[in-house]
Amino acid sequence: MQQNTVAAPALAAEGQRKVEWVRRNMPILRQLGSAVRRGAAVRRQAHRHLDSPRGEDRLSRARAARGRRCRVRRGQQPGVDEGRRRRGARGRRACTSTRATAPRPDEMRRYMGFALEIGPHVVIDDGGDLVELLHESHRKFGKDMLGACEETTSGVLRARARANARQLEFPVVLVNDARCKYLFDNVHGTGQSVWEGVMRSTNLVLAGKTVVIVGYGWCGKGCALRAQGLGAHVVVCEVDPVKAADALMHGCRVLPLAEACRVADVVLTVTGVRHTLRAEHFPLLKSNVLLANAGHFWEEIDVAALAKLAVERKELRANVEGFRLADGRWLNLLGGGNIVNIACGDGHPAEIMDMSFALQALAARHVVMSAGSLAADCHPVPTAIDEQVARLKLAAAGVAIDTLTSDQQQYLRTLASLTPRQRGALRARSLVVVRARGTRRPSSSCRSG
Ligand SMILES: NC(=O)c1ccc[n+]([C@@H]2O[C@H](COP(=O)([O-])OP(=O)(O)OC[C@H]3O[C@@H](n4cnc5c(N)ncnc54)[C@H](O)[C@@H]3O)[C@@H](O)[C@H]2O)c1
Repeated sequence: MQQNTVAAPALAAEGQRKVEWVRRNMPILRQLGSAVRRGAAVRRQAHRHLDSPRGEDRLSRARAARGRRCRVRRGQQPGVDEGRRRRGARGRRACTSTRATAPRPDEMRRYMGFALEIGPHVVIDDGGDLVELLHESHRKFGKDMLGACEETTSGVLRARARANARQLEFPVVLVNDARCKYLFDNVHGTGQSVWEGVMRSTNLVLAGKTVVIVGYGWCGKGCALRAQGLGAHVVVCEVDPVKAADALMHGCRVLPLAEACRVADVVLTVTGVRHTLRAEHFPLLKSNVLLANAGHFWEEIDVAALAKLAVERKELRANVEGFRLADGRWLNLLGGGNIVNIACGDGHPAEIMDMSFALQALAARHVVMSAGSLAADCHPVPTAIDEQVARLKLAAAGVAIDTLTSDQQQYLRTLASLTPRQRGALRARSLVVVRARGTRRPSSSCRSG
């Protein structure tokens, strides 16, 4: 059996302190803990974010409900993960690296194979790599699989592609598509932690800078929102006209990328698409521009093409590499083009991961409880789970909300049960009433809809 690969066991105590801090700030998982732990007996191995060790401890237990075998994999970069060091130092199996950049693909593959060796019943994936391996080179470890839960947008796309081709061999619950995931993790988690990573690695201000955000999906929207809050001029580049219009209405300037490059002080890619920023864009950029990627895969910025154009490259600060072009301009790449909030920062805040991991825990439990009844396809997180996490979040914040009165519930039920013809008749009657009122008391305002 593979031994630990722990880069710096001496940092275990610091890791333990961070784990304790995360534990204090994950009230939802604390509340869920005993429920999902029931009946658990777990063997653990983790690829994890620094922001998440406690949460994943609980997840492992959740997934192990009814004695199922589970392993956690988070993200593509081990980064500086004290949680893992702590684990390694206690004699448990762990992989960790002190490098900020992603492990080499072969190294990464080795870690993933290591994670799958136990022959899991449930896999919690982030980006779909484990699910892919279980369908390809590591099929032998997947024979007991009950299902997987997918954390991020890019992994969801991969699972859907497999399902559409009828090549999915076990159910995959799309945790990313739960409202309590993308509305919080993607928008607020990415929105905050990306700039924390950028500011920490560069020690520069965002205020007054022109920040170009390529991709205005959930993550891009959060990054734009926070950059605006920090005083940046935000330019958005999109390929989806609706998203572009949305960005415009949120006060962003919208430009094609080739034009945006000419004015950018910072370019952030967050599309989930390969070579979003590529060779044709580099010559357009100003000197000293910062280039960062927040999408799941490290290929969004074509670093190989950048290196080819450069006549010199050197580390300017930790996690900031300068590429000098032949005309003397320096283009500065953050975190080697890897996910900047993880490569250069701590990743998502604990309170955000509290919600995401709560969803994962409950989704994994759902996979186990529904064993045999979930088809080998993509499945949404049940609404009841999504709402449970939201209610726990509100309760943890001491926030109460209203409920519909029974009259209002009845009204909505009646509306829902009307045929289109009945709905049309009701609408016509309302218009007659409105018009009749209008003749008695003319209104100066004009409303549509
Ligand atoms: N950094 C993090 O911590 C973190 C967290 C969650 C998700 N992600 C990853 O971030 C990426 C985006 O996630 P999302 O939830 O915002 O996805 P999304 O699908 O909501 O948004 C992606 C957007 O990019 C746009 N786009 C695609 N190609 C483009 C191109 N070439 N130019 C301009 N726009 C383009 C799409 O139209 C879409 O609006 C995914 O890879 C996801 O896995 C990262």
